[in-house]
Amino acid sequence: MSAGPTPKAQGQFTIRLARPSDSPSVVRVIKAVYDEYGFTWDAEEYHADLYDLQGHYLDHGCPFFVAELSSDELVATAALEIFPKLPGEVGQLVMHGGRVRIGGADCSMERLYVDPQTRRLGIGRALTQKLIDAARERDLHSMEIWSDKRFDKAHALYKSFGARVVGDRICDDPDQSPEWGLLLEIL
Ligand SMILES: CC(C)(COP(=O)(O)OP(=O)(O)OC[C@H]1O[C@@H](n2cnc3c(N)ncnc32)[C@H](O)[C@@H]1OP(=O)(O)O)[C@@H](O)C(=O)NCCC(=O)NCCS
Repeated sequence: MSAGPTPKAQGQFTIRLARPSDSPSVVRVIKAVYDEYGFTWDAEEYHADLYDLQGHYLDHGCPFFVAELSSDELVATAALEIFPKLPGEVGQLVMHGGRVRIGGADCSMERLYVDPQTRRLGIGRALTQKLIDAARERDLHSMEIWSDKRFDKAHALYKSFGARVVGDRICDDPDQSPEWGLLLEIL
């Protein structure tokens, strides 16, 4: 007999670029995290990118990564958005496009989520490293990260890569969530 539940947590994982057809699985994983935290889901606006990976990421050369278990089950997501360098000193908060942004940033980390049942296997760290590598390959230098203040584990993860908190803002999600802004310089 097995000694208790060992959900999905035993398998090895691989990371690959997402395909447009991954959209339903990407939504499932991220929605599971939203349900875990009691956050509001907004398919029409705030989460619209997840229903159209091609139009929001792939067509713009922005890599969207997914992690899969050996069973092919998709269990985590992370994306790199790429944009012209934001105005202002590196790390200074600036108003841009009607939102608070981090000056000098030329890319941002987006949608890092790991299925609640496959945490602490190194998947979040591997995806973060993948985004950093992708940024470096594209000669990008400053990664902007906005992260809900309740995601304290993620903040520990980002800081372990050298990210530093440079400010905060209220997110434009349906919950108007307070979030920290971190800057990760790509060396
Ligand atoms: C944050 C998150 C992505 C980490 O994913 P993960 O696969 O469990 O993380 P890893 O196993 O790779 O651990 C990486 C680091 O995260 C931190 N961390 C993760 N879980 C932690 C926990 N339960 N307690 C303390 N630190 C934790 C640690 O710094 C850890 O490094 P260490 O193992 O050397 O201590 C995951 O917990 C998650 O999806 N959380 C909810 C959503 C979220 O916070 N997303 C970030 C959006 S900005």
